[in-house]
Amino acid sequence: MDQNAKKLAAAKAALELTELEGILGIGTGSTADYFIDLLGQYKHRIEGAVASSQASAQRLKANGIAVFELNGVGEISTYIDGADEATRDRHLIKGGGGALTREKIVAQASRRFICMVDDSKIVAKLGGFPLPVEVIPMARSFVAREMVKLGGQPELRHGYTTDNGNQIIDVIGLEIDEPTQLEGLINQIPGVVTNGLFARRRADILIVSGDRGVEQLV
Ligand code: A5P
Repeated sequence: MDQNAKKLAAAKAALELTELEGILGIGTGSTADYFIDLLGQYKHRIEGAVASSQASAQRLKANGIAVFELNGVGEISTYIDGADEATRDRHLIKGGGGALTREKIVAQASRRFICMVDDSKIVAKLGGFPLPVEVIPMARSFVAREMVKLGGQPELRHGYTTDNGNQIIDVIGLEIDEPTQLEGLINQIPGVVTNGLFARRRADILIVSGDRGVEQLV
């Protein structure tokens, strides 16, 4: 099975686990896109969705699903999203698509977080995928130097601006032995908006799609 077929299978499994009522939180990326397209068939069962990016908002609307601002809704029942890397204990790296900050906000505002990955994303230890760090532009060089102090090699994502008008530094080489601790440490650096470690708010359910079917890690 190729990677896209695995992503689609993960999205189908996530849909089966999602309570289709009220307002859902929807992530960003190709796996989230599969989920949105599947959700379109059930749009009459939900009020709508809060999107983690402008791209997902557009795709939701194209599927006839109402899009709400987070400020206009209360707690969201379920947040559904992909990830760039995941451990079997459901810690994640996200932000390859640049939407990490809104993803983290909507995930945190949701009671339950279902994450969907194909099995190529599963790692024993996070950090093979460069860790995205969203920064306020004037702090870019300062934050990059702080990343070097933490043992990383920062690289600016050239020509990219987030939906929040900020920039992203991708950091390779970090030893991520304690994801929860490192997430907090990086987020405390002035100028950092957030980083792509999802450990403090990890997935509640991790769906892993592989050649032999779909596995649920809880
Ligand atoms: C978006 O910013 C990311 O966090 C995505 O969730 C992540 O890149 C997964 O993308 P794919 O589903 O396209 O692999």
